[in-house]
Amino acid sequence: MKHIVVLTGAGMSAESGIATFRDSGGLWEQYAIEDVATPEGYRRNPQLVLDFYNARRKAAFDAKPNKGHVGLAEMEAGYKVSVITQNVDDLHERAGSTSVLHLHGELSKVRSTADPSLIYTLTRDNWEIKLGDKCEKGSQLRPHIVWFGEAVPMIEKAVEIVHTADILVVIGTSLNVYPAAGLLNYVRSGTPVYLIDPNDVSVHQPDVCFIKKGASEGVAELRNILKSK
Ligand code: APR
Repeated sequence: MKHIVVLTGAGMSAESGIATFRDSGGLWEQYAIEDVATPEGYRRNPQLVLDFYNARRKAAFDAKPNKGHVGLAEMEAGYKVSVITQNVDDLHERAGSTSVLHLHGELSKVRSTADPSLIYTLTRDNWEIKLGDKCEKGSQLRPHIVWFGEAVPMIEKAVEIVHTADILVVIGTSLNVYPAAGLLNYVRSGTPVYLIDPNDVSVHQPDVCFIKKGASEGVAELRNILKSK
């Protein structure tokens, strides 16, 4: 069975109604990254940061997987499919994908500020964390999200996975943020690369097949292309 590795970004969830970051009207037009997505911002104003992630968590729990998520999950019938996502929603999992690696953390999880190994899962019914919500060791809980300037613990695992890809598919990412964007450099030479995005995305790899569509239509087109191979 061929191994398809899929690198996804915020555009993957756009058709589920979840805002991207750098499109017009995106999150980084509404909030300053340094205020809500850095350790310094959290130290300066933890309430603002908790509110930001509580709102995003609620939106993610209320969202539904789109046809792109479902299409990727269905591809597991004919391929080994490994999803490496920059997204912190759980829409890939809810669509049925069985191998999902979150590079930038997960909205559904929170962790101790004193002991990062203490991780707790939130649910639709219990979706927010407040100042004063503490771990079992008595320290404040924070979002289980990789903030700018923090390490990306899953990147080595992601590199290993990309290196075993027979096909690499990139969906809905502007490839602006490293080390995630650098994963394209780890495909074995000669590995076909498909990039699904309604807008232009600059890539330095040769021979990328661009599918200039949204995630839902783009995944359907990709499946037809692969079927014809
Ligand atoms: N289908 C597919 N792609 C889409 C769609 C859609 N319907 N709508 C928009 N896009 C594309 C945009 O053209 C853009 O290329 O999704 C991409 C979104 O890019 P960004 O907003 O930069 O999101 P992303 O690349 O995931 O950002 C990476 O930056 O802020 C950090 O941690 C955050 O994980 C995030 C990282």
